[in-house]
Amino acid sequence: MKPRPLRDNIYWLGAVDWDRRLFDSLIPLPDGTSYNAYLVRGREKTALVDTADPAFETMFMDQLKGIGSIDYVISQHGEQDHSGAIPAVLCRYPDAKVVASSKAKELLIAHLNIEEKKIVTVEDGQQIDLGGYTLQFIYTPWVHWPETMCTYVKEEKLLFSCDFFGSHIASSSLYADDEAMVYQAAKRYYAEIMMPFRSIIKNNIQKLEPLEIEMIAPSHGAVYRNPGFIIDAYREWISDTPKNLVVIPYISMHGSTKKMVEHLVASLTEHSVAVKQFELSGTDLGTLAISLVDAATLVVATPTVHMAPHPLVSYAAGLANALHPKVKFATVIGSYGWSTKVAQRIAEQTSALKVTIIDPVLCKGNPGSDTFAKIDQLADSIAVKHKEAGLD
Ligand SMILES: Cc1cc2nc3c(=O)[nH]c(=O)nc-3n(C[C@H](O)[C@H](O)[C@H](O)COP(=O)(O)O)c2cc1C
Ligand SMILES: [Fe+2]
Ligand SMILES: [Fe+2]
Repeated sequence: MKPRPLRDNIYWLGAVDWDRRLFDSLIPLPDGTSYNAYLVRGREKTALVDTADPAFETMFMDQLKGIGSIDYVISQHGEQDHSGAIPAVLCRYPDAKVVASSKAKELLIAHLNIEEKKIVTVEDGQQIDLGGYTLQFIYTPWVHWPETMCTYVKEEKLLFSCDFFGSHIASSSLYADDEAMVYQAAKRYYAEIMMPFRSIIKNNIQKLEPLEIEMIAPSHGAVYRNPGFIIDAYREWISDTPKNLVVIPYISMHGSTKKMVEHLVASLTEHSVAVKQFELSGTDLGTLAISLVDAATLVVATPTVHMAPHPLVSYAAGLANALHPKVKFATVIGSYGWSTKVAQRIAEQTSALKVTIIDPVLCKGNPGSDTFAKIDQLADSIAVKHKEAGLD
């Protein structure tokens, strides 16, 4: 793909990775992704904002053909999907300086062997004048790594936000015109990458508030011509108040735990509590992560396997623990054969969650009327807790 103009003298470059299906060897990419870089050509200086994943280095360098000089390579984030082609750019433009936050410097040296003398560090709020365009750097730590910063082009009211506000979407369209589609993809991206840093994101959004922003151009996915759309979505996702929603990741080898899950889903529905169940052997874990953005209660449902939860359940519990959603309540249900430690194991695996634990419902073998009565009580108790917490 050729460079595409965003504004006068400001271009999108980079790669649309239609075929990639996994990120960080972990995150499913149902819609592919893109690595967006941007070129800002001032009267005196030219700046390249980020680069592309190393897999697209040749294509990226082809896009730069015809660009006589690059004075600054702004490295907003040291992760290789954005910084990976910096060494190639420096090779072709030996006078270019890499502009990075002070924390990014050591990461760029460690990850990409960039020579220290090539790196100029900028402080939070510092500006560079390109002639007609002023780049202001805004430290936005932890979106996605501790060194990350955004770049604001004052004259254009344009924010380059790197991973912040990004979405994994491959598209021939540059812009987020299909907001419903982009909302889902950006929410998935937030859930999988940003959610652990919810409280820090609040500070970062506050930091952006004084800026007049007409366009947000992230380093993955669509560019926002209506920035309020994605900023408002983030405000909702990071808010402390969950929705009246129960999320149930589960496995059932022989159907007993499944019967318990189905009974709980029906009972919660009767109580007007929204519920989502995820059968983990066939679930794209991104959809579970998305639902955890909103969930008030997590019910982990598992049979006992060698005294412990089924390994796929342990994996999902570990993921939920790492993603740090705002869930308020949690419990365990499931079937066992003779002796079990699933409740203790799940509590250990989710120890980072700040939740009130509700008594588990565990049943020996096939669930009968006594188990279903306990599950009804559980649904009742969850509904009461949600009401008391003011959720509807
Ligand atoms: C590989 C394997 C290991 C198991 N380990 C235990 C165990 O350590 N303790 C226990 O109480 N039941 C154990 N069970 C029995 C199951 O927990 C029991 O059959 C349960 O009802 C299965 O629930 P499900 O129908 O939802 O799969 C094991 C079953 C399998 C297949
Ligand atoms: Fe990243
Ligand atoms: Fe990224």
